[in-house]
Amino acid sequence: MRVLLLGAPGSGKGTQAERLAVHFGVEHLSTGELLRAEIASGSALGREAAAYVERGDLVPDSVVEPLITDKVLAASRAGGYVLDGFPRNLHQARLAYDIAVTEGATLQAVVHLEVPEPELLRRLVSRGQGRSDDEEATIRHRLNVYRELTTPLLDYYAGRGLLHTVQADVAPDEVFADILRRLPQRRTASG
Ligand code: AP5
Repeated sequence: MRVLLLGAPGSGKGTQAERLAVHFGVEHLSTGELLRAEIASGSALGREAAAYVERGDLVPDSVVEPLITDKVLAASRAGGYVLDGFPRNLHQARLAYDIAVTEGATLQAVVHLEVPEPELLRRLVSRGQGRSDDEEATIRHRLNVYRELTTPLLDYYAGRGLLHTVQADVAPDEVFADILRRLPQRRTASG
């Protein structure tokens, strides 16, 4: 299985990606987690990314793409992946496709987690400052960035017949069951 979870900050991408990865026996790859690990390690890449993440802006494509590309290809060879947070704009989506297509590693499905904005804010604010970008003004900025730069991916993937929209303002178990109903139930290396 090769699937992308697409949704606003707080829509439950990380929560559902973890479960899907276990269910399908594939790797969960989150660019947000990878970036936070780089920042915590103090690497050059982490130092370059830190200010963008703090502000709630997208980290430049030139920083993100080398961080994730090889991992996606390796996971695909090992049986598949659940992508969470990448691609996040049209440039990343087109580049990821160009690289993946040569290896037969392109997406089989894109799941859009749809949650009304007041619920997104409630979830992120009540996460309780667990993350440096969870301050309310930064959350609002992340939501704006999502609307401007990431929502164009909905049409992009719908046009490729890959998009499934799931109402994700219900309990995590219900969201998970709804996602599974829409995905082919195969765990083999061919998908
Ligand atoms: P990233 O880590 O991807 O953060 P995000 O998109 O803002 O999303 P979150 O992790 O806040 O939410 P989520 O949708 O994963 O929901 P979660 O399951 O955690 O990115 C962080 C930053 O890194 C970006 O702002 C950017 O700077 C940079 N970045 C990352 N990828 C990049 C890229 N490709 N290019 C450039 N820059 C990039 O759930 C949220 C909360 O809600 C939790 O408390 C959870 O317990 C709760 N919850 C989940 N599901 C439910 C439910 N069904 N009901 C009630 N509560 C729920």
